[in-house]
Amino acid sequence: MSDYSDITVEKRQPGTLLITLNRPEARNALRTHLLSEIAAVLSDAEQDDMVTCVIITGGEKVFAAGADVKEMAEHNAVSLWRDERPRHWKSIREFSKPIIAAVNGFCLGGGFELAMHADIIIAGSNAQFGQPEINLGIIPGAGGTQRLVRTVGKSLAMKMILSGEFISADEALTAGIAAEITQPENTLRRAEKLAATIAKKSPIALKVAKQAILNAYETSLEQGLDNERKAFLFLAATEDRNEGIAAFMEKRSPKFTGN
Ligand code: CAA
Repeated sequence: MSDYSDITVEKRQPGTLLITLNRPEARNALRTHLLSEIAAVLSDAEQDDMVTCVIITGGEKVFAAGADVKEMAEHNAVSLWRDERPRHWKSIREFSKPIIAAVNGFCLGGGFELAMHADIIIAGSNAQFGQPEINLGIIPGAGGTQRLVRTVGKSLAMKMILSGEFISADEALTAGIAAEITQPENTLRRAEKLAATIAKKSPIALKVAKQAILNAYETSLEQGLDNERKAFLFLAATEDRNEGIAAFMEKRSPKFTGN
């Protein structure tokens, strides 16, 4: 799994795939090729039963400084309209297994939007989150205006997007962007530990749980509760549900198969 130029991909522990953004010379700016590599890896991982959970990281110093501004400079409205990037974002958005973003350092613009595509963000204490697109005379273009406001509410989303100011890891934790903060040298280790815990669960229950939570963004409470009930009933028909309950009764660890 080493045929990539802008990322590295490793199976580090059972059930977990680690994607590391690897353009340190450009602060991991998300040029189109990098995004296409993430989308391709996730497309393979979707079909791979050995992958239960994915971690995306940028390393200890920087997560990603956003879209590649030098690449963006080459675009006009028509070329952007034909751009392949929305297709790659869609692949990331539609990936059905859990994604953890392990974020150290700058997490900006499209980089922040990538982190918000993840299901859980573990932040190093040196993380800085921002949507600085306004400084370039543009706005976030990969879901930032929509995901941020749903996560942190109107006032903070407006402040970040209208001013371009960054927020710290502490503020991100308080605002519900990050699930946890660690020392930067522990961010990946903590993400791997969490991924290992998740990877032991029923793959089918994980997918259903992820979808049920993401559905909450799309629906009314009543509709969401109805969706949850249907998903709950669906899981009652799975072997993993029987195995999970049997293992509890027999005081042993469950052996989930995803069936
Ligand atoms: N695109 C392309 N190259 C970038 C980049 C980016 N987003 N961010 C950094 N780089 C490059 C710099 O041009 C520089 O390259 P050279 O050595 O060739 O000059 C190199 O990375 C190092 O950058 P700095 O010297 O600026 O590093 P720093 O540590 O002093 O600062 C930073 C880091 C705060 C992230 C700063 O580089 C910065 O502000 N970057 C731009 C952030 C930004 O505006 N992001 C939003 C992009 S637009 C977007 O994301 C829209 C979207 O998704 C739709």
